[in-house]
Parts: sequence; C-alpha cells; structure tokens
Amino acid sequence: MTGPRLGVLSSGKGSNLSNLLQRGYHIAAVATNRPSCGAAATARQHLVPLGEFSQKRFGSSLARDRTLAAWLERIGVDMVVNAGYDRILGEPMTSAFAGRMLNIHPSLLPSFGGGMDAVQRALEHGVKITGCTVHLVTEAVDAGPILVQAAVPVLPGDDQDRLLARIQAEEHRILPEGIDLLWARLGGAAQPAKETTHA
Ligand code: GRF
Repeated sequence: MTGPRLGVLSSGKGSNLSNLLQRGYHIAAVATNRPSCGAAATARQHLVPLGEFSQKRFGSSLARDRTLAAWLERIGVDMVVNAGYDRILGEPMTSAFAGRMLNIHPSLLPSFGGGMDAVQRALEHGVKITGCTVHLVTEAVDAGPILVQAAVPVLPGDDQDRLLARIQAEEHRILPEGIDLLWARLGGAAQPAKETTHA
C-alpha cells in the first residue's frame, strides 16, 4: 500500500472507518474510548490493532492523551483521522500530530461547531442548507483550517436520522478527499515508527 498509515479515532458506530477500509486505505490503528462501540468491533473484525483508552483507566484527560499519542507514534501512523471521537483532544495529541490530524464534523463549520449535536442544532435553527466539513485539528475545538466541505440541503419533513444519513453519505465522499489532499500536501512522507515509547 502506498497511501498514508492512518490512525483512526472513533467512539461510535464507525461508518467512516468502514468506508475507509472498503476503499482500501491503510488503517494502521484504531483507537477508542468506548471498547463496545461499532468502530471497535470493526477493527477487531479486520484485525486492525485496537487501542482501548477508556477515560476510567486514566487519572486525567492529559494522561489519557499522552498515552494515546505515544501509542499512535509507536505504531508509526502518518496521519490521525478523528471520525466520531467524542473526547476533546488535548495538547499531547495536538502537538504530536500538528498538521497531520483531521476531523470530520457534521455541519458546515464554523456553524454548529463545538458539540456532538450539530445535526440537531441545525434542524432546530431552521437552516435550509447544512453539510459536513473535514478540517485540521488544532487546540481550538472544530476551528482548525478547513480542507473540504460538502453542502446538504435540509428537506421538508427531515428528522435527525434522515438528515444525518444524507450528511454521512457526503462524509463518506469528502473524508477520503481530505485524507488524499492532506497526504499530497505532506508530500506523502511516511513517519518512521518509533521503537522506544511505551503506552
Ligand atoms: C460523523 O457524523 C462525524 O461527522 C461525527 O461523528 C460521526 C461519526 O460517525 N464527528 P461514524 O461513527 O463514522 O458512523
């Protein structure tokens, strides 16, 4: 495989992870804080190394993120893809993967950022167009530089499930685009696996 070695972070059903696997991306690691989630099951099924980083294992979110970053660095991922991870990533992660960590968010940022309820808030607000955004992760939540966006019209009679299904169809198109775009910008330079860090 010639593309980037991806580390995917997820807490949820994992449709974006499944889409990347189906498209042949090299998933070098999956990390989750919810070992019973769909994404974790998908990782096990595909024999992808799975890191289980439940918050209860750690004294603080800083300790959790230090361990997570060290694990991903030891595996030698080139890029981190935050695909439905429901924890805010702190400095150990934003520093270790600065400029090579993406997030997919189910709204047209900067609208409806900063939470897990972006689709519900868009419906409540009565917007006629929403969508999804692939952006770089920085310490400011949902505010890093935007790489790709897709617009999705809100249709009469939409509820959260119907709108989210159409948004996710677009996510499955633009997340790979964002990965390819960032990998091209990085010059396709692989990061060597580090031998000495222990989780
Ligand atoms: C996606 O809608 C993404 O925008 C949001 O979390 C959801 C993850 O979905 N950040 P899935 O687990 O990949 O299906």
